[in-house]
Amino acid sequence: MGHALIFDSGVGGLSVAAEIRKRLPALQMSYAADDIFRPYGEKSEVQLKTRLPQLLWELTETVHPDIVVIACNTASTTALNEIRAALSVPVIGVVPAIKPAAAMSRTKTIAVLGTPGTVKRRYVDELIDTFASDCRVLLQGSVNLVDIAERKLAGEPVDLDWIKTELAPMFSGRHGADIDAVVLACTHFPLLRDELKASVTQSVQWIDSGDAIARRVEDVLSHLKLKPARPGPDTALLVGPETSPARIRTFKDFSFERVVALLPSL
Ligand code: DGL
Repeated sequence: MGHALIFDSGVGGLSVAAEIRKRLPALQMSYAADDIFRPYGEKSEVQLKTRLPQLLWELTETVHPDIVVIACNTASTTALNEIRAALSVPVIGVVPAIKPAAAMSRTKTIAVLGTPGTVKRRYVDELIDTFASDCRVLLQGSVNLVDIAERKLAGEPVDLDWIKTELAPMFSGRHGADIDAVVLACTHFPLLRDELKASVTQSVQWIDSGDAIARRVEDVLSHLKLKPARPGPDTALLVGPETSPARIRTFKDFSFERVVALLPSL
């Protein structure tokens, strides 16, 4: 069935891993979280383009996957070409779901909620030009929502007021009342879907690309000549000096039975 390495700066990629697992339950999965370098949303293009190809190369040399999924919008919209050039296996990146959001919007006013890095990338401008030229597109970056999602998955309570504060510039600003679709352009944000829904009064569709990525993984794997399945537990590699009990619990909740710390040479 094959073996996928799912990669994100933290737990965000678990929202994608869950969709992949739903579609491909027999797929072996490894997961890597770049804990020591998070948040990516605040890093420069140069920093990400320098770090990610080398890090992903080291990770693939460690777990030998058949396919790599960059389950991070900030990394994908910044350094996908550089990562692909460094690896010898297929690499799938997440793309903010601007196309479906524009297609389903009736008010033709949509918002893209991502990290500060993602919402200013040229890649996103190009998606808007190509797929949402008939829409008004409001861009909103948030670093705090990433941290809130990390805390939620570590078992800490989430205060809805924190979420409302992050969303206020989007919905209370000009044209905010017209928004009827929000692109969750950071993989951490689907982990807060319930809280996001509970924080707004207007009717909004919250759209992510997890299911689309899972379909893409299925399609790419179907064209690969895969070695017979390698038995082995699904493993999470946490980039950093050590793991914490909360972190281990989070990954075990998502069926990553082994959780190990890993310090790359970077
Ligand atoms: N989950 C990531 C994304 O999709 C990045 C979060 C961060 O580290 O800023 O953009």
